[in-house]
Amino acid sequence: MKRWALAPVLALASLWLWAPGFSQEDMTAVDASPFERPQRAPALFKHDAHNEKAGIDACNECHHVHRDGKKVEDESSEGERCADCHGRMTQGRVPSLTIAFHTNCKGCHLEQQKGPVMCGQCHVWRPIKAGAAAE
Ligand code: HEC
Ligand code: HEC
Ligand code: HEC
Ligand code: HEC
Repeated sequence: MKRWALAPVLALASLWLWAPGFSQEDMTAVDASPFERPQRAPALFKHDAHNEKAGIDACNECHHVHRDGKKVEDESSEGERCADCHGRMTQGRVPSLTIAFHTNCKGCHLEQQKGPVMCGQCHVWRPIKAGAAAE
């Protein structure tokens, strides 16, 4: 519980990623900094290239908005991070951040029988930015 309280601090520390100038076009992996102490390498995700290849048109396939327990079809939340709504623990119908990502990403890959479903296919250790541990 206490450790999770550090999350906002870590999130702030990573704000540079969210600063103007960085856009989803440049994204190559999902930033894992909202997690207290990530155990895995950030998951590979070339935002625009992925969505084009996978043929996903609706932003709210991932950046969704819910009202009264229902998904709002014509609204999206790409201005917000998944971690803004999904916390460390599952709360009611809102899954924890880890489950939210795995259900969203892996769920679709399993359903479509396309895209990676093994841990090491998404969480690939590699240097992703200056300063990251090169392996
Ligand atoms: C397959 C899932 C998926 C789809 C579809 C998707 N996104 Fe994203 N997007 C993500 C994830 C995951 C992140 C990282 C969120 C986080 O770290 O909390 C992200 C981040 C972003 C960001 C933040 C990066 C930044 O510039 O600061 C923007 C903007 C964004 N998406 C826009 C869009 C738009 C516009 C669309 C539709 C054209 C879209 N996304 C479709 C998954 C998706
Ligand atoms: C504005 C708040 C908000 C944001 C931002 C948000 N979610 Fe959610 N999410 C919710 C709520 C609320 C629910 C519960 C919906 C319900 O009542 O069933 C939910 C449910 C889910 C579920 C389970 C139901 C389903 O749709 O399969 C997944 C998976 C999920 N979110 C993934 C994500 C991912 C991945 C991101 C970031 C790309 C994200 N969410 C961003 C609010 C949000
Ligand atoms: C709505 C469906 C859907 C969602 C949601 C989705 N994917 Fe995919 N993904 C696909 C499909 C389809 C492919 C295969 C594309 C192809 O090669 O034809 C794929 C391929 C991939 C690949 C292989 C390399 C590439 O870019 O083609 C990676 C890595 C990947 N997905 C990661 C993710 C991550 C991480 C998320 C969650 C943030 C995610 N995906 C969410 C449908 C989805
Ligand atoms: C389709 C891609 C995908 C697959 C397959 C996948 N993950 Fe993830 N996982 C993600 C994404 C996206 C996140 C969000 C943060 C990030 O980028 O690591 C995440 C987050 C996590 C986290 C929380 C953050 C951390 O690093 O501690 C853990 C733990 C994790 N995954 C373990 C696993 C394990 C174990 C497997 C195999 C059973 C697995 N994942 C398979 C995409 C995937």
